[in-house]
This record gives sequence, C-alpha cells and structure tokens, in this order.
Amino acid sequence: MKTPIVSMKNVTYEYPDKTLVLKGLTLHIDRGKKIALIGNNGAGKSTLFLLLNGILKPSSGDLFFNESKISYSRKDLKKLRQKVGIVFQQPDTQLFSSSVYEDIKFGPKNLGLTQEEIQFAVNEAIMLTETGDFKDKPPHFLSLGQKKRVAIAGIIAMNPELMVLDEPTASLDPYYAKKIMKILEDIHHENRTILLSTHNVDLAYEWADEIIILHNGAIMAQGTPVEVFQNKELLNQCHLEQPMTLEIYQQVLAKHHASIATEYPLSKKQLIEKLASLLPI
Ligand SMILES: Nc1ncnc2c1ncn2[C@@H]1O[C@H](COP(=O)(O)OP(=O)(O)OP(=O)(O)O)[C@@H](O)[C@H]1O
Ligand SMILES: [Mg+2]
Repeated sequence: MKTPIVSMKNVTYEYPDKTLVLKGLTLHIDRGKKIALIGNNGAGKSTLFLLLNGILKPSSGDLFFNESKISYSRKDLKKLRQKVGIVFQQPDTQLFSSSVYEDIKFGPKNLGLTQEEIQFAVNEAIMLTETGDFKDKPPHFLSLGQKKRVAIAGIIAMNPELMVLDEPTASLDPYYAKKIMKILEDIHHENRTILLSTHNVDLAYEWADEIIILHNGAIMAQGTPVEVFQNKELLNQCHLEQPMTLEIYQQVLAKHHASIATEYPLSKKQLIEKLASLLPI
C-alpha cells in the first residue's frame, strides 16, 4: 500500500474577510502518484495548494508531511517548503528576480547545493522548458506563457518530492502545453509526486493516475480517471464535463450494443485503435 506524502485532516480555511473556502477537508496525497485536482472557479483549488506548502495555515485541522504533523514553526515550514514546490496560478506572484536565470536559480540556491549542482539543475530546467532564449531578460518583460514556463523551470530546478502546479498549462500554446505535460510525465517516479490543478478534463483524464474533484470547498470524489469520469451525475453537479475520449468510447460501445470493456482508452491514439477494432473489416 502507498503511504501518503501529504495528508490533511479535517482542514478548514477561512480568509481574513471571513470567506470560508475549505470545509473540513480530509485528504491523502499518495507518494509517487500523478494527481489532477479539478473543480469549479472558486472551488478552493489554489487555496488548498497554498496550504500544502505552508503559505497559508489552516483555520482548524492539521497538515501532515510524511505522516508527521506540521507545527508551523520556522524550522518545520522551511523543511516543508524544500520538499513541496509550488507553481502559482499567476506567475507574476512567483517571479521577482532581475533575470529569468536568477529566478530559476532561486530555489536550488536556497537548498544549500554546491555551485556546480545549482548550475546543473538550472541548465537542465532551462533546457527542458526551452526558456534559454530569454534567460537574461527580466521576467516582467515576458509573455504570460513564457512566464509560466519560467515558473515551471524554477520548480523543476528545485527537484522537490512533491510538485504542486496550479493550472500549469492554462496560458500555454498547444505546443508548450504538450511539452510541459510530457516533462511532468517524464520526471514523475515512485518518489516524486505531482499534483496539478486544471480545468481541462481531457488533459486530466489522459495524464493522471488519480482525479480529485473539489466543489465549493468540499471533496466530492477521489479515484482513478475512469471511475471518477464515469459518474455523469456527479460531473453535472460539479459543473464538469466528461472527457471526450471517454464519452465517445461509451457512446460508440452503446451503439454497437457491446458490453463495456474493462480497458478504457485513455488517449486519442488509444481511442482510435479501439474504434478501429470495432469496425467491420
Ligand atoms: N485573499 C483572499 N481573501 C478573501 N477571499 C479569497 C482570497 N483569495 C481567494 N478568495 C476566495 O476564496 C474562494 C476560493 O478561491 P480559490 O482561488 O482557491 O479558487 P480556485 O478553485 O483556485 O478557482 P479558479 O478555478 O478560479 O482558479 C473564492 O471564493 C475566492 O473569492
Ligand atoms: Mg485557482
């Protein structure tokens, strides 16, 4: 059985103006998984992410990292932030150095690595995210999508155990959206957990091992993409759509009066293969 890297027990969060956002959340993020958090605007996704690395403190309830309770002492918070890296929804919140290079360097520099290790980590992150062309520019001159890629490069360079990315592909063009998802696929392994939020159900369905639905501050479902996205009633209730691959497959199977197969196609490529096998030769 997988052990959770982060857990929340009965966490409530209320902003200073009394907006109650999270309503008694109990949640386990299993080590080594790729998890997509989906939910309506204002559901509390970004707030939940800010709680995960201690930027916000629960109004009530507890946060655990590697099964030990976070005390919110300076020492605990420092440790938590080294292990949980976050990419904010708005890159401007994150980028503040005089150059892109310095910004990407900021995380690894704070981890106490050697100069050589820092340089290696930064260059690797720049190469993966293709941000080298503007590495000497001030981040505030970049386009929105470029800023987002720099913020993602920053977290890659830090190499945290848990990567939390708030809508990583939201302002990226299709080429870079695909590229970033491929990187997130490649760098994930049994000791690297990746949690992202997205409004793109197709992306979540194809990429994630696990889906969490947050709706108006409450967890409505947590399970495999096929399990969660089959529940149309729940999706309607949470203002979500079924992923296209799953919907097409289910409808074609129904038309063929075929029994629902146990193995669902997860990608467009797999769907085409499945459909081709149903066609008469
Ligand atoms: N600093 C703040 N003070 C008061 N209320 C806030 C603050 N930040 C967020 N909120 C409120 O908290 C709720 C949850 O916001 P949050 O940004 O976590 O939602 P979200 O799920 O990330 O939404 P989106 O999909 O639009 O990014 C919203 O109702 C929002 O108005
Ligand atoms: Mg958000």
